[in-house]
Amino acid sequence: ATEQAPADAGADFVVVANRLPVDLVRGKDGQEYWKASPGGLVTALESILKANHGAWVGWPGVADASPEPFDADGIRLHSVTLSARDVELYYEGFSNGTLWPLFHDVVVPPEYHREWWNAYVAINRRFAEATAAAAATGATVWVQDYQLLLVPRLLREMRPDLTIGFFLHIPFPPVELFMQLPWRSEIVEGMLGADLVGFHLPGGADNFRILAHRLFGHPSARLRSTRGRASEIRVDDRMVRVGAFPISIDSAAIDAAARERDTRARAERLRSELGSPEILLLGVDRLDYTKGIDVRLRALEELFEEGRLETADVTLLQLATPSRERVEQYQIMRSRIEESVGRINGSFGEIGHPVVTYIHRPVPKSELTAFYVAADVMLVTPVRDGMNLVAKEYVASCTDGEGALVLSEFTGAAAELRQAYLCNPHDLEGVKDAIMAAVTETEYDRRRRMRALRRQVLGNDVHAWARRFFETLDATSDE
Ligand code: ADP
Ligand code: G6P
Repeated sequence: ATEQAPADAGADFVVVANRLPVDLVRGKDGQEYWKASPGGLVTALESILKANHGAWVGWPGVADASPEPFDADGIRLHSVTLSARDVELYYEGFSNGTLWPLFHDVVVPPEYHREWWNAYVAINRRFAEATAAAAATGATVWVQDYQLLLVPRLLREMRPDLTIGFFLHIPFPPVELFMQLPWRSEIVEGMLGADLVGFHLPGGADNFRILAHRLFGHPSARLRSTRGRASEIRVDDRMVRVGAFPISIDSAAIDAAARERDTRARAERLRSELGSPEILLLGVDRLDYTKGIDVRLRALEELFEEGRLETADVTLLQLATPSRERVEQYQIMRSRIEESVGRINGSFGEIGHPVVTYIHRPVPKSELTAFYVAADVMLVTPVRDGMNLVAKEYVASCTDGEGALVLSEFTGAAAELRQAYLCNPHDLEGVKDAIMAAVTETEYDRRRRMRALRRQVLGNDVHAWARRFFETLDATSDE
């Protein structure tokens, strides 16, 4: 099959993800332009690829677009075309109506439709073919996330010369939940096509090893060479490594941006635009039902009702980027959030001074850093989240050591950010207590916590994450 490899064309390093790092936008006047695409995957991978000059294979974010390959910031972008029907069945359907809720502990019920699955198989093949065409002989390919779980195996069949890594950016569910999936064997087989399968947390890696054994009888063993952080699954005559690689951010870049004079001036202005509150609470999320935006609104409402927080002193700024807007559960969550914001402001706001400022639009990166700098307390309350980069971005932005992070235990980030004000988002009293602790703890204690958080985030950045992944992946080809 190596004959199928292009002789001398193609890149030595290829990332394949459902989305390109930029989305094609079609303006009302028929003009087309590109804008940054949403989500943590792009945030993390973009900085790695810029440093490595590789290629990126992905969907340009709108139906029926087939732009020619082009270069952006030193990255060669190859588009995979999806029709409106593909988007509906593969992206909104199987990826975001089946896998996303199932992998996030069924916080809403996943739906199982054969038509969605068939589209998922066909589109994964399309991504694999586009990747095979973009990769040089012997290249390293890095497959990303739940939309492309079948790509590692398909790609190996097409191009056995490639070294294939796979990384899952969302949680990998407990075995009992995964076993619901009618196509559980095909999915695990698809992932096992990689040389290395990476998860955020050791628990996800363990669940995957158990499934490989339960479904196929593949044995596995811990690897000593990686200080116990990876295992190996024997798949016939191949070894597949499995490990935990908690993703991070470009911490130094955010730290530097947060120190800029313009950022600090913007942060000051923002506080005064919000009525110079004594305490500015901030939430920054994609509008997703996993993020617990509703949880923090409920907590705040009760704290106001009970008089534990004074509406004159406190303001919440909630930024919520639109996401997956045609999927029903997202529409339901949006209505619920907007109703809550309206109710809280109706009850507690003053003329010209709402207590919750809600913005349902993406915010430019530079603005976002200013918002982090301005905030006194960051509220990160997902009911389930693979990692949550927002929590780490906030910590990296607290350059003066001030600031407090309220963080859900159900995020991957909570495994590392132990000094945050941790809470269980299913326990509303606990969330309220965590917010109160963040607001009332002494400056000395707050600073002590933030110091520990900053040590963790600045010492473990996205470059170290990629390095660890590739060290483990490279070792697979040595043996
Ligand atoms: P997810 O990948 O599920 O969206 P993460 O917290 O891991 O969650 O990553 C979200 C990324 O998107 C972060 O880099 C964050 O800065 C960015 N982001 C989130 N909300 C907004 C917003 N309202 N405006 C601009 N960027 C946002
Ligand atoms: C999460 C997922 C990514 C996804 C992003 C944005 O970070 O792990 O794979 O790209 O959300 O979601 P979207 O559906 O808009 O690509």
